Amino acid sequence: MDERFYFQSDSSFDDPYTINGSLEGWRNEVARYAVGNSRLAFAISAGFAGPLLLPTDSESGGFHLRGGSSVGKSTVLTAAGSSWGGRDFIRTWRATSNGLESVAALHNDGLLCLDELSQVDSREAGQIAYLIANGVGKTRAGRSGEARKALRWRTLFLSTGEIDLATKIAEDGRGRRVAAGQEARLVDLPADAGAGLGIFEDLHGLASAADLAQHLKAAAARHHGHAAPAFIRFLTRDFGGIGPLVAEHQREFLTEALPEGADGQVRRVAGRFALVAAAGEMVTSFGILPWPQGEATKACRRCLADWIAQRGGVEPAEDREAVSAVRRFIQGHGSSRFEPMGDLVHHDSTGTPIDVRIQNRAGFRRRRGNGGTEFLVLPEVWKTEICQGMDSMRVAKVLAEHGLLKTDGQGKFQTLHRVLGSSGPIRCYALLPGILGDEGEGDGS
Ligand SMILES: Nc1ncnc2c1ncn2[C@@H]1O[C@H](COP(=O)(O)OP(=O)(O)OP(=O)(O)O)[C@@H](O)[C@H]1O
Ligand SMILES: [Mg+2]
Repeated sequence: MDERFYFQSDSSFDDPYTINGSLEGWRNEVARYAVGNSRLAFAISAGFAGPLLLPTDSESGGFHLRGGSSVGKSTVLTAAGSSWGGRDFIRTWRATSNGLESVAALHNDGLLCLDELSQVDSREAGQIAYLIANGVGKTRAGRSGEARKALRWRTLFLSTGEIDLATKIAEDGRGRRVAAGQEARLVDLPADAGAGLGIFEDLHGLASAADLAQHLKAAAARHHGHAAPAFIRFLTRDFGGIGPLVAEHQREFLTEALPEGADGQVRRVAGRFALVAAAGEMVTSFGILPWPQGEATKACRRCLADWIAQRGGVEPAEDREAVSAVRRFIQGHGSSRFEPMGDLVHHDSTGTPIDVRIQNRAGFRRRRGNGGTEFLVLPEVWKTEICQGMDSMRVAKVLAEHGLLKTDGQGKFQTLHRVLGSSGPIRCYALLPGILGDEGEGDGS
């Protein structure tokens, strides 16, 4: 089983599956450093998940390491790619837009690494992500005019960038939005592991995170192209047994790592994290990765938890959108369109209240007993402006469930308040101080 098969396309590409150094060298100088480094262990594990897509009948999809410059994103990508090949194995988003279908097919049942999302045009980015994840190219006429069969592929891809795909797609300002399905297929993972070391958590005795990054890049250049073929050799010994084995791993992972009540979209993404965990554990059990059993699972659980945290929880996307739409409105207009009441009213040096002119008033704001600011939103503004394009009742319900909206004793979402300039109490939506978010303090300016 040492034969190697290459897909040949019409366009010519350099063979990315180059080999250098040794498996032993790769284990000691690259893979070993992933122990205790969740992103590195996750990415290396993900590098082995591609060959499991077919036996588990899983869909194509990818993970996007998103973070600031020089946190180590490309380094981790290079380390993951080194299971398969050397420098040419790592592609960029930009270079991939040409001959994309052939590239995707060249990485069929394997790993596709795409560096630097920011360098590609925003419209192209969406199309590339969609096409790769979709797994099938366009039917075209061949050289002699006959209909050529469309290329098909199944691939797991790893990507890096300073922004996520949704932001990238929205970048051209034409109101284009990433579809929920698209988002589930390129899972956005914060690159920074939160340990003050960028993408890393454990330096394994090296002097700095930059040193570790440089070491890994150099080591991956010395040793690559061994681990993935070794894994595939193991897989081909009992191809029929892989599906059930991986499924068992995935079930276990999901039982432990998936919070209760998770939305369908979250489950779908978590299933892909579980596939990565299964891949990492299998490769470990074959002795290809020099990690303790459970290391891959630990890394995947951590990354899944970080994904869920940055997503804002496990609830449906529409519910999150409801909270963030209201939050955006208050953050944007909290001081300009909400009239101050009580001790939020500013006074001049003689103690006379300063009359602020509120244009286009959306409501009122006042201090709560605990020091935070409460916003009273006029029902018409709530409905037509804040909840534009959404079901305003549903938005109110979600906000109330999050403890961000006051309800009356009977669970009604509008409550009665005495405000400036009205003879009796009026109905408002009363937003509690938490609406400003963790970072928002003060009076909403
Ligand atoms: N975790 C880190 N902490 C500090 N410096 C780092 C870290 N990782 C990498 N570096 C430094 O940044 C250099 C580039 O690393 P790398 O290419 O992996 O970064 P990147 O995150 O891909 O950055 P960019 O967004 O610029 O592509 C390294 O050679 C190293 O000097
Ligand atoms: Mg980079």
